[in-house]
Amino acid sequence: MATDSRAQDVGFGVDIGGSGIKGATVDLDTGDFIGERTKILTPRPATPDAVADVVADLLDRTGWTGPVGITVPAVVQDQTARTAANIDHSWIGTDCAELFRTRLAVDGVPREVTVLNDADAAGIAEARYGSDAARSGAVLLLTLGTGIGSALLVNGVLYPNTELGHLRFPAMDAEKWASSAVKDREDLTYREWARRLDLVLAEYVRILNPQTVIVGGGVSRKADKWVPELTVDVPVVPAELRNRAGIVGAAVAVREGIRP
Ligand code: BGC
Repeated sequence: MATDSRAQDVGFGVDIGGSGIKGATVDLDTGDFIGERTKILTPRPATPDAVADVVADLLDRTGWTGPVGITVPAVVQDQTARTAANIDHSWIGTDCAELFRTRLAVDGVPREVTVLNDADAAGIAEARYGSDAARSGAVLLLTLGTGIGSALLVNGVLYPNTELGHLRFPAMDAEKWASSAVKDREDLTYREWARRLDLVLAEYVRILNPQTVIVGGGVSRKADKWVPELTVDVPVVPAELRNRAGIVGAAVAVREGIRP
């Protein structure tokens, strides 16, 4: 795909995950991908420089030279990573915008980039392109994967950098007990895992009182197998954008100047 044009309402998002770095051109009118998503394995160790090299490679492959939104699985404040639960610890304190701006420069001109938390990006995408419930009132979106990511939204506006996956529960981080990676690792049935998630959700709901909980991540594709097992007293609905959410939200963030 040739260079961006803001007039065409097209953006580009990159989602940095524990196993893969994924990017795609996004139609910002509809929230759909234009063309294929490109995925490259996350380097090991996933240091900032090694990851930036892969993102540069990904953009080279697609030919995109415009602004880029990039998600990381970390708290991002003033474009600087503050935590690193599921990525290399050397991210902590990294000025991510500076890293990518320079590494992704086009013909020596620094690239316009926006970096944000992966779950926050998913929340933004869901609020823009998902169901009406996603932009109505107080919404908690969770991404269930290697960890548990969270995004809090009020009428579609994000409160950034919530880290509910790290709520101590019962004696460890909630994500170490109830993420979908834990379900796989401990070979839990959907019902067994849903019981755990139900207890975690009950705690979130007790404290935050959202009107809707949206569940994303790969496991939400099988939501019919476990959402009915939940007893928590609030509507729990699967995310609509599925695995598009991070990429799409990143593209929206750079377009709309959302810089946590
Ligand atoms: C990180 C969050 C991230 C989530 C999902 C957690 O371990 O602390 O920042 O959103 O995983 O990737």
